[in-house]
Amino acid sequence: MTSLSGKRIIVTGGSSGIGRACAERFGSEGARVAVNYYSPGEAGDAAAVVEAITKAGGSGMAVQGDVSSESDVIALVGSVVKAWGGVDVLLNNAGIEKQIPTLEMSLEDWHRVIETNLTGTFLCTREAGKVMQEQKAGVIINMSSVHEFIPWPGFAHYTSSKGGMKLFMGTVARELAPSGIRVVNVAPGAIVTPINTFVLDDPEAKHAVESEIPLGRMGRPEEIAATVAFLASDEASYITGTTVVVDGGMSLYPKFV
Ligand code: NAI
Ligand code: BGC
Repeated sequence: MTSLSGKRIIVTGGSSGIGRACAERFGSEGARVAVNYYSPGEAGDAAAVVEAITKAGGSGMAVQGDVSSESDVIALVGSVVKAWGGVDVLLNNAGIEKQIPTLEMSLEDWHRVIETNLTGTFLCTREAGKVMQEQKAGVIINMSSVHEFIPWPGFAHYTSSKGGMKLFMGTVARELAPSGIRVVNVAPGAIVTPINTFVLDDPEAKHAVESEIPLGRMGRPEEIAATVAFLASDEASYITGTTVVVDGGMSLYPKFV
């Protein structure tokens, strides 16, 4: 276990999948966790995450908001500062994907993915970063992807957003290091979450994905949460400006001959 007791943490897109696992892991370490969720329809799931956090020994609150909306992000960070007096850790986790060939992609499709994944990361980083700069301490973790560096046909908006997150992370890491703030990306491979329903519901597609992974299986959200908890803690005090890959070996390109 790492030590996150009492830490004030924001998890965007925290009502499902990887975000949920991270929020619950933070809770089990005694942290105070703001569980951001996107739509009113996810309020019940977010409340369940807060309940799990509380049962595990932490405390939490659910905060609705769209990470691509400047006013929502200002309100999200403001509500955490109001409740807890600061922000120690920001997990930029919210993200979406939608398979569509580039030549058929509408501008709206492009904007939606870029604005959620990349602009959302920027807005949350800017707002929480201001608070952390005052504190002269903080950790910003971005949920990137192996598609930060692996091209993926049908997902040009998604790979562009994740590739963008790589240089965003490195640049901000340099800007904020003098203020005692670390900035790190986590790059998961294929993880069993709702974003992968299109693969999980199709045995052939699932087998094809698994055959790309040397460990022979998709990852569990808790396996990403374990890495995130480490990076958020002082155990990772000398790690900034880099991407930690958690992918069962997927990025070793096992089919390459
Ligand atoms: P998920 O679909 O369970 O979670 C995504 C969350 O983001 C949802 O709770 C959704 O409501 C939220 N969200 C979407 N748009 C939002 C917005 N505008 N504002 C606030 N929240 C919003 O999927 P998963 O897998 O947990 O995804 C989490 C992150 O992990 C994403 O950034 C994804 O790109 C990344 N990732 C996932 C991998 C996987 O294989 N599951 C692999 C690599 C990266
Ligand atoms: C995507 C998943 C995919 C994984 C590995 C992630 O960024 O969200 O859908 O399974 O990369 O390709």
